Formats: sequence, C-alpha cells, structure tokens
Amino acid sequence: MKNKIFVTRKIPIVGTLSLTQAGYNVVISDKDYPLTKKELIKVFKKDSYSGVVSLLTDEIDAEVLACMKDVKVISNYAVGFNNIDIKTAKEKNISVCNTKASSGDIVAEHTMALLYALTSRVVWGDFFVKKGKYNGWDPMLLRGSSLRGKTVGIIGAGDIGKHFARMCRNGHGMQVVYFDIKRDENLEKELNAVYIRTVDELVSISDVVSLHVPLNEHTFHLIDKKRLGMMKRDGILLNTARGPIIDEQALVRSLEKNEIAGAGLDVFEFEPKLSKGLTKLPNVVLTPHIASATKENREQMSIIACKNIMDILENGKCDNLVN
Ligand code: DGY
Repeated sequence: MKNKIFVTRKIPIVGTLSLTQAGYNVVISDKDYPLTKKELIKVFKKDSYSGVVSLLTDEIDAEVLACMKDVKVISNYAVGFNNIDIKTAKEKNISVCNTKASSGDIVAEHTMALLYALTSRVVWGDFFVKKGKYNGWDPMLLRGSSLRGKTVGIIGAGDIGKHFARMCRNGHGMQVVYFDIKRDENLEKELNAVYIRTVDELVSISDVVSLHVPLNEHTFHLIDKKRLGMMKRDGILLNTARGPIIDEQALVRSLEKNEIAGAGLDVFEFEPKLSKGLTKLPNVVLTPHIASATKENREQMSIIACKNIMDILENGKCDNLVN
C-alpha cells in the first residue's frame, strides 16, 4: 500500500477511485459538513498522511499546517485557494495545488446566467407566472435591459474572466474593457478589448462590472462604498469569485438606495451567512456558491485534485502548483 491520503469531505468518487486504483490508502471524512479547524487538527494529530484533498471551506492556517507532520501536498478542490496559508505551507515544504485546469468556461456560464437573470427579468418573471399574476401580454410588463452595445468591465482577465469576456463580445457584441495586474495584448486583439489602467476608471465606464480576481490582501473589499458610488446608476455588478472582494454591507446600502441597478452574486462576504438586508432586496439575484457546480465539472475537479496529489508524490511536480 502506497501513501495515506486524507480527503476532508466526500467529493465525486471518480478522483478518489483513481487514487485507490493507483494503490493509495484513501481516507475520506465521514462527516457531511465542512470540518472545523478543531476537527482538522484532531485528524492530523491522530494520523499521518502524505497528501490532503481539501475544500475551500477548510481553514488551513499555520496552526493546522503545524499538525500536518508528514504531509507533502495539499490539493484544494477549487480554483481559489484563499483558505490555505500558502506561504507557511511553502516554508514547511508542502506543495499546494488547485484545480485551475477546470471550471473557466463553467464559471463564466454561471456569471452569464446571473447577468441574464437580471437583464431578462428571469427570476421576477418566473415568480410572477407561478404566483398566477400573468393575465395577458402587456407591452410594459417586466421590461429588462439589452446587452447589445453595452460595455462590460472585467476585473481579472484570467481563464474565467476571458471566457466571460468572449461570451459578452461574441454573443452580444458588447464592448469589453478589462483591468488586470498585467496587460494581455492577445485578448485585446481577439476581442477588440481595451485595457483600463485603474479599477476606479473601469467601474465608472462599465454598464456591467464582473469580478474574476482571486481573494488576497490586494483584492479584499476591492469594490467598496467609494467604487460602488462610481458605478453607473444603471450599472450591474456580478461576483462569482470570492465574497470578501465586495464590501457586502456597502453593496446592500447601495442597492437599497438604487445607486446601481442590480447585482448577481454567487459568493458572499461571510458565507454561508448573508449580510443583513441582502435577501430583502428586489434588485439582486443570489445563488449559493454553485458557479462551478455542473455535474461534469465537479467530476473533472475531482480527477484533477487527485491527480495533483499523484503528480507531486510520484514526480515532484504539478501543473497546478500555486506556491
Ligand atoms: C472555485 O473553484 O474556486 C470555486 O469557487 C469552487 O467551486
């Protein structure tokens, strides 16, 4: 039997099966909830593991890492990895990997679904019909807004941001503007996209602002009261990245005062808790962090997360290394 691997919660079996078939001893948490920090510490104090498949709900900080005596690799079942202290992991010679080779187009699709839900009045229309309120066609009923000719501002032109930009440009003829820490001239050529040097400028010229950056100390509250105030009054804000990139209380206040037209959120600052007032707002569409949750993609993520473990343990390298 090869090394022992701990999986912090049940994931689609296809990946863990590949580990078992390759001879690894796979232990999957039997709890149907995210393990608390205390529980994680208990697991790693009790037993020795070579690899860990973790979830974005696992807080793997210095204290937890200190208990991972023999762990060589942590493979996070997510593209984001803000739940792991990657600097301390590196100091302890623990490789951290993510599932970045998955999800780009899938998360972009969900971002588009949130946008359509807002501009085509899907949620309100559905509610209206189901409540028995539809009494006949009415030219003034539930008017939305068109995407054609509008400007979409992409913050973070990585894989997901690019996929979303392509959908906006190629599907709807939208003007793409983007902000990123580095310029991407290929994207500019491909989509006639315009690089905007500051987030302030991007939010003030875009009809739709979509967030696709990782959460870190530079992006925490990137969209705050000041930047919400700079957005157009009929602007829409989309977040399928990480909740704390938006100051959620400031967003609630801005939506309450109709300072922006709407928001589509798949992630929340204090998830699973929601900021007071968010669910009362008529101009938001909320989904429970499911942007990458197609059946196919969840399986793909499982395959990638488990392959990362084998890549590191057997070859000492991995395409999805993040530290
Ligand atoms: C990710 O991959 O980071 C998503 O948020 C989890 O599905």
